[in-house]
Amino acid sequence: MKKTNAVITAIGGYVPEYVLNNEELSRMVDTTDEWIMTRVGIKERHIQKGEGLGTSDMAVEAIKDIFKKTGTKPEEIDMLVCATVTPDHPFPATANIIADKLDIRDAHGFDLNGACSGFLYALDTAKQFIETGAKKKVIVVGADKMSSIVDYTDRTTCVLFGDGAAAVLLEPSEEEYGIKDSILRSDGFGRKYLNMKAGGSAYPASADTVANKEHVIFQDGKHVFKHAVSNMADVSVEIMKRNNMTADDLAWLVPHQANLRIIDATAQRMELNPEKVMINIERYGNTTAATIPLCLWEWEKQLKKGDNIILAAFGAGFTWGSIYLKWAYDGK
Ligand code: UT7
Repeated sequence: MKKTNAVITAIGGYVPEYVLNNEELSRMVDTTDEWIMTRVGIKERHIQKGEGLGTSDMAVEAIKDIFKKTGTKPEEIDMLVCATVTPDHPFPATANIIADKLDIRDAHGFDLNGACSGFLYALDTAKQFIETGAKKKVIVVGADKMSSIVDYTDRTTCVLFGDGAAAVLLEPSEEEYGIKDSILRSDGFGRKYLNMKAGGSAYPASADTVANKEHVIFQDGKHVFKHAVSNMADVSVEIMKRNNMTADDLAWLVPHQANLRIIDATAQRMELNPEKVMINIERYGNTTAATIPLCLWEWEKQLKKGDNIILAAFGAGFTWGSIYLKWAYDGK
């Protein structure tokens, strides 16, 4: 019997309209376009504005994009996984809210928190359901409204993040395409370097946690940077080697977009031509779980059936990993 592979058959994406550029940020905190561009590589990010709007609303738009492109109906979806660190509410799951807004009824649905590696974790999880035959049409969406947890008086973090969402449709195929291999890791020692302290069960929200600004991102950038560079490059090289590929065999590297210097270091370790690296950090910043699918969405037209692609990420937890996939359709 032939093996069933989990294949991406469509992509959708969405970024909110409002653009927050470096010039506007430099009027809010003590920073400059020059510092942000040379240290991180971000020019602008999209920010979701509007009372009561949240991560689910961006995810809904990204999934609608897939429905429009493919003619897929909500009732055909049998599973929806939402990777996010900025759920609409602590509960119910944002996946449930997205499903309700899209009229997806009776489907298996849940959120997954893998921070910046969330999309890779979710994709690998969804893959298992397809390969075993348990599910036929699965939506994996990476969505984050980072502006909801950014302290816009802290120059060390507020320049880094943006909002966005992107989704893929995963389906079974007996052809030799789809997700071939994955390396996913985590090590909780890193939790002290990147976190949001309050709002969970250990430190529930109180007047003090709000006054102490404990509902926003804390990051010790230097430590995170050091581990991001080595770990993201390690797993990218490892997955390439164990699948007997060299840089020549690869069509694309799709790296998490946290810092252009981390991306460059990973590509260099892989000895990859820079033209094969998807980079859009300049326009979107770090959208956490959305960065990798947003790249795939933007590059879709350039992708060809049979392209060897490596996705790679590093984020809070620490979590990190790489996925090797063989692209299943011509983008044009
Ligand atoms: O996606 C999740 C994983 N996250 C990451 O991968 C992020 C990893 N870390 C990074 O990308 C970098 O560490 C940052 C971009 C966050 C910071 O860059 P850095 O080169 O590590 O800078 P630094 O934190 O060492 O700060 C250098 C200087 C400091 O000033 P002093 O102490 O040398 O006087 C900072 O206060 O730059 C200062 N600084 C800024 N200056 C202007 C920090 N942020 C800013 C800013 N504008 N926005």
